Amino acid sequence: MWTDTRVARKLGTRLPLVQGPFGGGMSSTRLAAAVSEAGGLGSFGAHHLSAENIEATVRELRGLTSRPFAINLWVPLEGEKALRPTPAEFQAAVDRLGPWYDELGLARPTYPGAFSQDYEAQVEAVLALKPPVFSFIFGIPSARVLEACRAAGILTAGTATNVDEGLALEAAGVDLIVASGSEAGGHRASFLRPAEESPATTALVPQLADRVKTPLIASGGIADGRTVATALALGAEGVQVGTAFLACEESNASDVYRQALRQESARGTVLTRVFSGRYARGIKNRFLREMTPHEREVPPYPVQNWLTQPLRQAAARQGREDLLSLWAGQNAPLIRHTRASALVTFLEEDTTRVLGRLAAL
Ligand SMILES: Cc1cc2nc3c(=O)[nH]c(=O)nc-3n(C[C@H](O)[C@H](O)[C@H](O)COP(=O)(O)O)c2cc1C
Repeated sequence: MWTDTRVARKLGTRLPLVQGPFGGGMSSTRLAAAVSEAGGLGSFGAHHLSAENIEATVRELRGLTSRPFAINLWVPLEGEKALRPTPAEFQAAVDRLGPWYDELGLARPTYPGAFSQDYEAQVEAVLALKPPVFSFIFGIPSARVLEACRAAGILTAGTATNVDEGLALEAAGVDLIVASGSEAGGHRASFLRPAEESPATTALVPQLADRVKTPLIASGGIADGRTVATALALGAEGVQVGTAFLACEESNASDVYRQALRQESARGTVLTRVFSGRYARGIKNRFLREMTPHEREVPPYPVQNWLTQPLRQAAARQGREDLLSLWAGQNAPLIRHTRASALVTFLEEDTTRVLGRLAAL
């Protein structure tokens, strides 16, 4: 049976299917619990949360499901913590966004104490809370943290966007590797090579399968039985689905965001750094188009991410699609389902059907 893989056995789930975590407030405990209850692995993207809020989230998840789930963090890139713009650089970045703050009726921000959450505190919270799975992107936690996970029985899943990153994750001894191809929605989580170089899922998965022994979870562009079957044929033993779950009513995406995922415009996704200072795949909207001429000037993550956060939040409140970061993968046009449990059932049944059809050829 295609569902009985090392990924499913390690995760302790009925299906080798992971709901991709969504950072920046798009995850919900309701979605993660619904996927875990349906037989997959629900995930919660927590990189934007404080240690206290991570604790509250894990408590809530444990109240909603007794099945395995994952908490996901962003590992800081080298030098990221020390990255502080000068007051003049900060002001220039604020001024560039000035007309957008004005349009949404927002006050211009002043220089903050910190531009992002404290990763060290987040990771200590994860170790103390012992979620069944700790997944991460943009790097590899320290050997001490990985050892503490092993000792606490927390399964680890790292993300590779190229072969070098997969080899580094395997050398560090992570339990599972998510092979994230460039079709995927959201940030390109590259940490050893430029994000723009990362190959597509159909190129990345077989190359990694040839080089690593760690079980692979394919991610990027997977949304139906054909794409799950392809991932399995390429050497993955599980899949991670993001955009199709984001479009479900249980996610924390706003109504306008969910609608945008189902519109004609979702066929036109691009990699952009105008929202966060790091490359991410999203649907072209007005903010993206008008900021693209300034793409090289915008400050790096986490500064630009911090500066655009109030814009994105206000746009969501005001039901405005033109100023949201509409992260979406290249297979958004395959979205058919509105309920997470129905999507899990569809992925299982459609994969079985496709594999049966192929076996009969
Ligand atoms: C809105 C959004 C936010 C995301 N945030 C994260 C994140 O914080 N951490 C992470 O590991 N992956 C994140 N991802 C990637 C997804 O978990 C998943 O791997 C990806 O969406 C799979 O590709 P697909 O969109 O083609 O299904 C995000 C994706 C989206 C669309």
